[in-house]
Amino acid sequence: MNGISRREMLRAAVGAVAAGALSGNALGGAAAASAPKTPGTRTGGSAADASKTFPAKFLWGCATAGQQVEGNNTASDLWLLEHLPQSIFREPSGDACDHYHLYAQDIAMLADLGFNTYRFSLEWARIEPEEGAFSNAELEHYRRVLLTCKEHGLTAMVTYSHFSMPRWFAYKGAWENPDAPALFARFCERATKHLGDLIDIGSTLNEPDIPQLLSWVDLPGNNLTEMFAKAKGLVRQQLNAPAFSGLFFGEAQKTRDGLVAAHHKGFAAIKGVRPNLPLGFNLAISDDQASGPNSRLEEKRKDVYGAWFEVARTCDYLGLQMYTRGLIGQKELPAPKGAELTQMGYEFYPECVGNVVRYAATQVKVPLYVTENGIATADDTRRVEYVQRALVSLKKAIDEGADVRGYVAWSLLDNWEWMFGYAPQFGIVAVDRATQKRTIKPSAAILGNIARRNSL
Ligand code: BGC
Repeated sequence: MNGISRREMLRAAVGAVAAGALSGNALGGAAAASAPKTPGTRTGGSAADASKTFPAKFLWGCATAGQQVEGNNTASDLWLLEHLPQSIFREPSGDACDHYHLYAQDIAMLADLGFNTYRFSLEWARIEPEEGAFSNAELEHYRRVLLTCKEHGLTAMVTYSHFSMPRWFAYKGAWENPDAPALFARFCERATKHLGDLIDIGSTLNEPDIPQLLSWVDLPGNNLTEMFAKAKGLVRQQLNAPAFSGLFFGEAQKTRDGLVAAHHKGFAAIKGVRPNLPLGFNLAISDDQASGPNSRLEEKRKDVYGAWFEVARTCDYLGLQMYTRGLIGQKELPAPKGAELTQMGYEFYPECVGNVVRYAATQVKVPLYVTENGIATADDTRRVEYVQRALVSLKKAIDEGADVRGYVAWSLLDNWEWMFGYAPQFGIVAVDRATQKRTIKPSAAILGNIARRNSL
């Protein structure tokens, strides 16, 4: 199918799903009130519109991560772990969404939907599958991905490390290895030399605070830190690899020290090649709220985010990634009884976006981006309501003074959600993994139209 007819078909599909969604009574109040009446039309300049309009040059994007969508990332630590006889993963990633081959059509779809930004990650394991052995062919692959972004006028936001790592790096102790920062920096330098001229915004690390964040979660009868420590033992035993480690089950303090050092060294290496590239990282953060009289809210914030806010103050921007709120008593408590839960078991709480942005703006003065936000649900009408309310709360925080430059939805595609396999559906586009056919959900059309208008 040539570019034009594919594009026209997509436009028609987008119009149809948006119209279908809007004519139904499935939308919640906020969604119904501000949903577009005519997809693709631009708003005028009335005062009412100004209250709904986002700042000029606002970035509207969708995100993916290599291991979750590319498929067959066989040199990564996770691929290895997915295939152990006693695996902590629900199912292997396999072909995933075959985005490795289908990136061009996926990027075209994202642009046609109305977005102006694509956030994706480089797979270090493909680029350096054995220590010191860099693959120009794989670097060229990512060059083609970036060129496709340019072809569609998209801002390319590139994450250098999104959880997965080369297996040789994991065998050496991952981020706990004293050599980790230098090894990461060497990869960053090599990748930037090959790709840097096409990257618009860079991020060293995705959610490096995850180990600390998990240590606060208090599931009844389930201490996540202990669970991961046990898993690490099992993995090391099965692989007969006493130093093997990873992001999720590394020793928290050592992992953080390694990651902070890796960020700084990686940052310097990237800037050494491209001094003017806007560079930061992506922080996992929930909308933490005090619960009960002796809440340890401030302690949690200091423990999980403190060191990373320090780092953010030396960056060009901070990426924020939030999905729900966290009620903090002595630990992070389960969602309130009766609360609506997502497929991840998170409380449905879209206002986390405005609240997190407001809080982060009190901590750092650098520009902020929401680099991930979304919901895992099989019911797309819940996603529509979630996104609408999230954006209303974001707009309010911006109006109150938060310097937010963009909103990136997680995720473009229904994809491989780490330990949970393919069960959670975060995508605004569904994927039939037997045929790799993409189906645009109403939420994609609605969000894409907001992006196109730059207005609620
Ligand atoms: C990660 C994504 C993940 C998403 C939803 C973030 O923690 O960056 O890779 O899929 O949240 O759980």
